This record gives sequence, structure tokens and C-alpha cells, in this order.
Amino acid sequence: YTAELDASDIEKGTYPHYMLKEIDEQPLVMRKIIQAYQNEMGDLTIDHGVLNAVLAADRIYIVACGTSYHAGLVGKEFLEKTAKIPTEVHVASEFVYNMPLLSENPLFIFISQSGETADSRAVLVRVKELGHPALTLTNVAGSTLSREANHTLLLHAGPEIAVASTKAYTAQIAVLSILSEVAGKVKGFDMEFDLVQELGIVATAMEALTDDKEAFEQIARDFLSTTRNAFFIGRSLDYHVVQEAALKLKEISYIQAEGFAGGELKHGTIALIEDGTPVLALATQENVNLSIRGNVKEVAARGAHTCTIAMKGLEEEGDSYVIPHVHELLSPLVSVVPTQLISYYASLHRGCDVDKPRNLAKSVTVE
Ligand code: AGP
Repeated sequence: YTAELDASDIEKGTYPHYMLKEIDEQPLVMRKIIQAYQNEMGDLTIDHGVLNAVLAADRIYIVACGTSYHAGLVGKEFLEKTAKIPTEVHVASEFVYNMPLLSENPLFIFISQSGETADSRAVLVRVKELGHPALTLTNVAGSTLSREANHTLLLHAGPEIAVASTKAYTAQIAVLSILSEVAGKVKGFDMEFDLVQELGIVATAMEALTDDKEAFEQIARDFLSTTRNAFFIGRSLDYHVVQEAALKLKEISYIQAEGFAGGELKHGTIALIEDGTPVLALATQENVNLSIRGNVKEVAARGAHTCTIAMKGLEEEGDSYVIPHVHELLSPLVSVVPTQLISYYASLHRGCDVDKPRNLAKSVTVE
């Protein structure tokens, strides 16, 4: 693989910030990924070495940091649900000092946009000492994590310049969905959907959202312009996405934010809800729709200023926004987009440096 880079990739063009440009690029990135992983027949395909490594594993250990860790949480859902391979997801900086009991034939998947994150590399070095195989999912061909692992899958997201990761997150999830689907098919499992078609629907849904920026600017204005803290809640796959949403908001707007499992609120955190506390909920999963709605009512009854973003088909009166319908398993690819845009506008309204937030570097090369 070689990185394709041309000047237009690294120019902001007419965009005021790289982050906004990179959010907008996501539909295109989805289409590029589909193409990159299709064979001449139009079927999804994965390099044989990678596929054999996945099929030989009795358990997968995903290791990553920050946003890439959050993409790993979604990736686990695909690997377990479509390829039926038990999968654990670990924060690299914890894994290296407190290693879990490993299975007999583990495969390590390192997810890293930059491929240079020191915490992840420290785990890779340890894994190699132990003689276990490693696969790196990265946006940068030739990066350290790519060179040092046995296998690499590229994200094809194009250069990501803004410190806040957006298109790399959705690219990581899309590539993991393809890897899981191909592995599941080889194992003889029936796929309940056509992934090429479903990822195409995702790209179109993303476009509809990036074309509707005013709506998210307004949500940011209504809910986040003066607050010091905010909560994001979700259940099931939405819980993974709200953790990413909270990180994004914290990182660029300096609002103290927490991504919470809806059902866990009542075990303590609900004590923090007071008059006007913003609580943003995601509702994209049918089997938990009633329960997340219940959680929204619980916090609203305690004075929270609630904003629900629901998927078409699950919407209720009073929801703040309805996102287009996509396959439930792929919903994180779409539901994250409003949260990226809301964070972007919150940062902008509060006069923060969107692309280069304080105290942060694009790639963290120290442990
Ligand atoms: C994302 O918005 C952050 N800047 C950060 O969490 C990042 O995802 C993390 O440092 C991991 O980086 P990597 O993907 O390049 O390894």
C-alpha cells in the first residue's frame, strides 16, 4: 500500500477549520473505503494474511487510545456479532501495566489514526516479545505501528489535520465492519445484510447531516453556549457513541462532559443533574428505545435541559433531531456526525481554538 497524498488533501480550501472539512469528507471516505476493499466482482475482500490471522484467533484484543479506543468499542460489536469472535477492547496505557489473562491464540488489533501513539506502541512491543500476532489499523502507511505489526489495514481517510479526530473514527468503524463481514462469510455465517449497499446508505445519510449544519449550530447554541458541564447518554451501541461525543466536546470546547450508559445514571450520577443541566441522548437502537426514553424522562423531571437525537422510525414528539435510517449495527457511523457538528459549533461559539485545542497534540508520542 502507498499513501495517496495531493496538495488539495492538506489544504483547508474554503473551510474555516480543518475539523469542519474533515467532518464533511466522511461520506466520500465511506465510498473510498468501499472501493478500496472491493474486488473486481464488487465483493468485499481482505488481504489473505490478515484474514488468516483473524480466523486463527480464538480471541481478539483491540488496543487503542482516545477516539480510536471508542471506535474499537464499536468494532467489538461487529467482530462478535458478524464474525462471532470473542473480542475485548482495552485502553493502551492501562493494558501495558495491567495485562489481562490472554487466551491461547490471541490476535491483537491496534487502532491508531496516526500509527505513532506511544501508549499503543508500548503494548505492541510487549505483544511482540510474547510472540503474538498483531494487526494495525491506521491512516498512515509506513507509520511506526504499521511497520512493527505483522499486518496492516489502511483507513483511506486522507490526511486528518485537526487535533479532534472525526473522519478517522468513522473510517476505523467502517474498516472493522468490512473485516468482520468478510471473516464471518468465510466462516460460513449468513450475513443478514449487504454491507456494500448498507455502507452506501450510510454515506448518503452522512451527507444529509452535513448538509444540515444550521440545525446542529442551533442545538449547540441552545444547549451548550454557556454551560460548564454536559451529559451524553445512550444505551447499547449508542453508549459507545456518547463516550466519543463527550470526548469530542471536552477536547475542543473545554466543557466538562461525560458519556454515560443511560441505565447507570440512577446509580449515582443523577445526583449531578440540576436545573438547566444539558443532557443529550441518542436513540438509534430499537431494543433500548423505551429504556433510553425513560432515562430522558428521569433527568427531565430533575430539571435537565434534554435534547434527543433519534433515528428515523424510533422518533417521538419533542425530539430535537431525527437522523436518517440506516442499519442499526452501522448507526454509530451516522449518529456520531451530529455530535461532531454540535461539538464543533460549541467550540466556535465559545471562541476556542477548534483545530488546535490547548494542551493537546495531534499524535501523542510520549507515554
Ligand atoms: C481524538 O479527538 C483525540 N485527539 C485523541 O483521543 C486520539 O484519538 C488519540 O490520541 C489516539 O490517536 P491515534 O488514533 O493517532 O493513535
